[in-house]
Amino acid sequence: MRAAITGTGFWVPEQVITNQDLTRLMDTSDQWIVERSGIRERRWLRVGEDGRTELTGAEMGANAARMAMADAGITADDIDFVIYATVNPDIFFPGNGVFIEDLLELGTVGAMDIRNQCTGFVYGLAAAEGFIRSGTAQTILLIGGEIQSTALDVSNRGRDTAVLFGDGAGAAIVQGTEEDRGVIASVLHSQGRFARELWAEIPCGNVAGRYTPEMVEGGGNHPHMNGKMVFKHATRRFCEAIREVMKKGGVGPDDVALVIPHQANQRITDAVGQRMGFPPERVFSNIAKYGNTTAASIPIALAEAVREGRLKSGDLLVLVAFGSGFTWGANLLRW
Ligand code: ACO
Repeated sequence: MRAAITGTGFWVPEQVITNQDLTRLMDTSDQWIVERSGIRERRWLRVGEDGRTELTGAEMGANAARMAMADAGITADDIDFVIYATVNPDIFFPGNGVFIEDLLELGTVGAMDIRNQCTGFVYGLAAAEGFIRSGTAQTILLIGGEIQSTALDVSNRGRDTAVLFGDGAGAAIVQGTEEDRGVIASVLHSQGRFARELWAEIPCGNVAGRYTPEMVEGGGNHPHMNGKMVFKHATRRFCEAIREVMKKGGVGPDDVALVIPHQANQRITDAVGQRMGFPPERVFSNIAKYGNTTAASIPIALAEAVREGRLKSGDLLVLVAFGSGFTWGANLLRW
C-alpha cells in the first residue's frame, strides 16, 4: 500500500499587504524587502474592531480542505483522519485539528496537530504515509495553515522578521493506493540546540501565568529570528535533505521533475537551486505573492503548481523544508 496525494487546495485572505503598505508601519522599503527576500506582497487577515481576525486559522484550513476534497472527488464522509500542521494554533489548547473535525462535520475521526513550524507539512506527510501503510487510516486530510500577521511586531524593532511572513492555508488529501505513485521516501531531522535562533516564547508553559511583564517588554509574544544564522543553516540543510531523500528513493537530480521548497526566502531558494544544479523552472516559487506562510507554504505552492500544470502523472516531486527548531526534512513522491 502506498500513500498518494489525490487532491490539493488552498485559501489565502483577500487583503493584500504590499511592501509599500509596510513602509507606513516601519522604516523599510520595497527595494530592501525585494532584494533580501524576493517578497513583493503577502496576505494578512483583516482584524475587526473586537481585535479578532475575520476568520480563525481553523476556518482558513477548512476552506482549503473543501477545495482539496472537491479536487480529490471525495466527501467529508470519506475522511478518516485529520493532521493539522501549524505554528500558530488559534488557542493554546486544543489544537486546530479538532476544530477542523467540527467545522467539516467529520463525525469522531481522529485529529492530530503537528508543531514543526515551516517543516510541519513535510513531517505531516511522512506521518500520513505511516498511518496509511500501517492500516490506521485510509483517507487523511492534511492541512498546513498559519495566522502569522497577529504575532508580528510591525514596529521598527521587528522589521527584520515582520516583512517576511503572511497568512494562509493549504490542504492535501492523502489516500492509500496500490498504484505505483505517492510517497516513495521521507527524511526528517531536528536540532534543538538552535531553538532560540527562531522562536516565539509566549505563551510559556513553564512560567506561572504563562508570561512575565519582562517577557512581554522584551517582545516575547512576537517571533524572533537570527536571520543570518537561519540563512546559513537553511541553505545547507535544504541541500542535505534533498540529497538524502533522493538517495533513499534511488533517484538522481535529473530524474526529479519539480522541487517545491518551503517558501522561506527567494535568496534561500535560489542558493539551493544553484548548489543542487536544478534549473529555476524545476524549482517552484510563489513567495513574491504570499511571503513566508510557514507550514502553509508547501501545500499552497503544491496546489498552485498542480493548477499551473507543473506536474504530470508519473513525475517525481521533492518537497523540502527547513524551519524553527531547527527542523528540516523532505519527501520524494511519484505524482
Ligand atoms: N527594512 C529595512 N532595513 C532593515 C529591515 C527592513 N525590513 N530589517 C532589517 N533592516 C536593516 C538592519 O537594521 C540593518 O541595518 P544596519 O546595517 O544599519 O544595522 C540592515 O538592514 C542589514 O541587516 P541584516 O540583518 O544584516 O540584513 P541581512 O542582509 O542579514 O538580511 C534577512 C536580513 C533578510 C532576515 C536575512 O538575514 C535573511 O534572509 N535571513 C534568512 C531568514 C529567513 O529568510 N527566514 C525565513 C523565515 S525562517 C524559515 O522559513 C526557514
